[in-house]
Amino acid sequence: VYSTWQLAKKYLQYYLHASNGQGHGMHSPFVFDFILRVLNNGNGYQAPPEIEALRQSLLSDPERLPMLDLGAGSRKGGAREKSVSLLARTAVKPRRYGQLLYRLARHYRPAGIIELGTSLGITTAYLATANEGARVTTIEGNGAIAARAGKHFEALGLKNIESICGNFDELLPRVLQEGRRVDLAYVDGNHRYEPTVRYFEQLLARADAGTIMVFDDIHWSEEMEKAWEVIKEHPSVRYSIDIFFLGFVFFRDEFKVKQHFTIRF
Ligand SMILES: C[S@@+](CC[C@H](N)C(=O)[O-])C[C@H]1O[C@@H](n2cnc3c(N)ncnc32)[C@H](O)[C@@H]1O
Repeated sequence: VYSTWQLAKKYLQYYLHASNGQGHGMHSPFVFDFILRVLNNGNGYQAPPEIEALRQSLLSDPERLPMLDLGAGSRKGGAREKSVSLLARTAVKPRRYGQLLYRLARHYRPAGIIELGTSLGITTAYLATANEGARVTTIEGNGAIAARAGKHFEALGLKNIESICGNFDELLPRVLQEGRRVDLAYVDGNHRYEPTVRYFEQLLARADAGTIMVFDDIHWSEEMEKAWEVIKEHPSVRYSIDIFFLGFVFFRDEFKVKQHFTIRF
């Protein structure tokens, strides 16, 4: 895992070398549309404010939850318990990225969404409210955290989420075998090389040209950078977009040669 200093240096490199994020000179209509409408919110999509209100209340919630050692964990190492407020501050995707995923789901209207790593359910809620016709399957290995997320879905009145508790290693193949659609997959947990590439391959077996996959923290560690390299170089990936804290891959066949974009967000 990279230190804060190494990560900051990497972020700076990304920021200086990335395309400016306005879409100028972009030859792919699909990527141009993605930059304009999803990254830059050209359509003015407004996420429901209740989700940020929930995050605010969690930020001062002292309840302590037991931690399990399931994946790569956090950069700050393994505590046996963490407060909800600490999780809300450190494990949950910040508003800017939650709302970006909201716009992604609102714009492309994926019918079947799979999230690996529910945590407190904030990003799940963004995905589920973006398209109420979608079915969101979210997997979390820590039962205490999953139970907390379930309460949040209830409080927000979200009915299109199926929350399952268990290890991705077991549950992802099972869920995919049951024939769930994979129109959008968000992989945000167990940030290590081998499992990340394995989840990608398992999801890929059920993907089609319209599928979108999003990987979290692709520059978090050497292992994750290696996994991201393998994923974006996979022959079935036609486009990839790197915005540093998230990586998007697309399978649509717009061009013969694959394209990779690093875009400032
Ligand atoms: C970074 S958090 C997810 C954050 C959430 N997607 C959000 O944006 O609000 C990652 C979660 O994945 C869970 N996790 C990590 N490895 C796992 C595994 N192998 N199986 C099941 N859950 C796992 C952790 O318990 C943790 O709650």
